[in-house]
Parts: sequence; C-alpha cells; structure tokens
Amino acid sequence: MVIKPRIMNNVCLTAHPVGLYKTVEEQIAYVKKQGPFTMPKKILILGGSTGYGLATRISAAFGGNADTISVSFEKEPTINRTGTPGWYNNAAFKIEAEKAGYLAENINGDAFSHEIRQETIEKIKEHFGKIDMLVYSLASPVRKDPYSDTLYKSVLKPIGQAYTAHSVNFLTEQISEMEILPAEQEEIDATVKVMGGEDWKLWIAALRDAGVLEEGFTTLAYSYIGPEMTFPIYRGGTIGLAKEHLEKTALELDDELKALGGRAFISVNKALVTRASAMIPVIPLYISLLFRIMKVKGTHEGCIEQMYRMLSGKIYGTEGLILDKNHLLRMDDWEMEEEVQNKVKNLWEQVDESNIRELTDIVDYRREYMKLHGFEVDGVNYDANVRLGFPCVVC
Ligand code: NAI
Repeated sequence: MVIKPRIMNNVCLTAHPVGLYKTVEEQIAYVKKQGPFTMPKKILILGGSTGYGLATRISAAFGGNADTISVSFEKEPTINRTGTPGWYNNAAFKIEAEKAGYLAENINGDAFSHEIRQETIEKIKEHFGKIDMLVYSLASPVRKDPYSDTLYKSVLKPIGQAYTAHSVNFLTEQISEMEILPAEQEEIDATVKVMGGEDWKLWIAALRDAGVLEEGFTTLAYSYIGPEMTFPIYRGGTIGLAKEHLEKTALELDDELKALGGRAFISVNKALVTRASAMIPVIPLYISLLFRIMKVKGTHEGCIEQMYRMLSGKIYGTEGLILDKNHLLRMDDWEMEEEVQNKVKNLWEQVDESNIRELTDIVDYRREYMKLHGFEVDGVNYDANVRLGFPCVVC
C-alpha cells in the first residue's frame, strides 16, 4: 500500500512505518553520538511511544544502558488502516533495542486501568524484580476512573473569563483570532482528573504494595509553565490547574518515598511540537516564534536533545539533581531566558500572514508535525508500496 498523509481538522490520520522507523533511528543515532552516561538500569515509562516519553526511553537505553518497559495506548494497523505513530515507534524501538542487547517490553493498553497496572507489575516481576525509576509521560484527552468507570474528558479552556486567542493554522499558515469561552467547573474538575496527579499516585501505590520499588527509587512526571502570552490558555487555564495538581502530587510522593530512600519530582520541559501540543490554541504560533529565536541563538532542542540533557546532565549528572524552590527541575531554562522571551514578545506583536515565514519557524513546525507521523522524512520513498504491519519497514 502507498501511504500518504490524510489530514482532517488539522489532525493527521495516517502514519508511515518507514518514515517512523527512520525517526526512531535518528534519535538513537543522536544519543549514541553524545556518548554513554551512568544511570539506573530498570526503567518503567508510562507514555513511552511518542514525544517526551519516547525520547526519555531512547536516552535511557542507548545513553544510559537501561532496560525499559513502556506502557502506551496505540492503535495497531488493520488490513486497510495504518496504525498510530506510537505503534510503529514502539515496534521500531523494540527491534533496535533488542539488537543492541537491551530488554524492551511494550505494553499496549489503557494505563489508567487496574488491568494494565496489574499486567505491568507482572512484567516487572518477570523481567526486573524491582524497578529503579518510573517516568510518567502520559498525555491524554480522556481518562476512565478505574473505580467508578466514569469517563472524564479534559478541555483546553481559560478559567474565569473568555479568551481571544491569536492562533495559527500550521498547515495553511492562516492566522486567526478565536474566542474561547471559559470552562465550567465540571470541565475544570474533569481536566484535573485526567491530567493531574491522581493516576500517578495510584501507580506508585500499586507498585509499592506489590513490592517492586527498588531502594532509592526515583519517579518523575513532566509539566509545562510557559510565558505570559500563553498563560490564559495554558498555565492559567484548565490544563494549568491539572499541572499544579501534578506538581502538588510530586511533593506528596516525594514525602512518601523517603522511607525507601526514594524521590519524586517534576521536570518542567520546553514547549515542543508533539501530537499533544499541536492541539492547543496559541501554542503552535508561540512555538514557531520560539524555535526561530532559539535556533538563531544556538539553544534550540527537540525532544531527544532535551531528554538526553535531562538524564545525563541534570538527573544523573556530576552536579546532582538541582530543583528550584517549588521542587521543579527546570528543563525550560533556555526557553524562559529573558532575552529569548523578550524577542518572542516583540515578534508576537508584529507577526501576520504576510510575514509569517520570515519571522517564524512555521515551515519547520509543519515539517516536524509531519515527521511525527513518519512523513517528510529524508531518504524515504513515499511512492513505494509498504506493508501496514511490521516487519514491513525492514523488508
Ligand atoms: P504525546 O502525545 O507525544 O505522548 C503521550 C503518550 O501518552 C503516548 O505514548 C500515548 O500512547 C500515551 N497515552 C495516552 N493515553 C494513554 C492511556 N490511556 N494509556 C496508556 N498510554 C497513554 O505527548 P507529549 O507532548 O510527549 O507529553 C508528555 C508529557 O509531557 C505530558 O505530561 C505533557 O503535558 C508534558 N509536556 C509536553 C510539552 C510539549 O510541548 N509537548 C512541554 C512540557 C511538558
């Protein structure tokens, strides 16, 4: 089958196995080039199939020599539909990791459910005995409460008052103003249920009760803060409240884990093009401006660069882990530099459809988005027939 991008409502519905294999290989090559570092070896990643979770997994394995189990929720290919990108990434990672001698187990299912937690615990017992680290990198629009079976849906809305968002459609490069009405209380609560820390806490409790946490166990989850211009829709909005809840949960878990000599904290990461962030109004335009400025300054990082720096330099670096006064690891340090933010703010006032290519990195944003689905990857023949399932990409 010849696979082309199929896009509806700004969401790409197809994925290219060969292109995705290459993007996983590219990330592995980056890590190998940077060189090895020392970190614990038995790692569980929740959300390890795409974005930050996948980059963490690749850095831990190919940089830190770690064995990994990852839980993600991806659709496998059928006879006439491609799988989701994460499904192909999982398969590609497994092939490459096993070739290099690392254990790489993929669990595909709903990480919010008791069943998948139990299956994961069984896998940990079978392969690791105990785990040294849990990375919580889930990003989901919905969560079914495992006790009540109630389905909660998260929303990306401001709180208190309507917000007029200056947004770009990164596929058509059209800029528009859109009014987003404030969230109802029920929507706020649901967003905290989905993206807050409740599920992370359930995971740690289940793993601790099963006796599979190693002495000195570390757990971390990912958050975002961002600048003033994204505040109404991000940090001051429904998702921001969920992130505050996640950050509060880190403090509680950190206290609980002391008995094991363990720790819990949050890494505040840089805004990047991922399937999740592309859906947030305002963010793609902000990212396009930010990338342009950080590239000129030489401080731009993608997921893999950032996760390699986090593990090798910050968490397991020679200086030891340094958190800010709010118990946060600030991987967004370069994004939030005053000079960078002043420049973004300045260009934000000037950007319109006539100068968008000149002032922003919109062309690369679009390409990055396509690459997340395996398209527009150098060296791939997109007119060739490929099989939808594996091991298509290696034949
Ligand atoms: P992503 O969309 O690339 O990855 C999400 C992962 O969660 C995938 O592996 C997916 O399979 C998994 N997942 C979703 N629902 C699941 C379920 N029910 N069961 C099992 N797995 C499930 O997302 P991204 O952007 O890498 O986000 C990861 C974390 O990083 C999130 O907490 C996000 O808020 C945070 N973050 C993201 C930033 C960005 O700009 N993308 C910036 C800073 C933090």
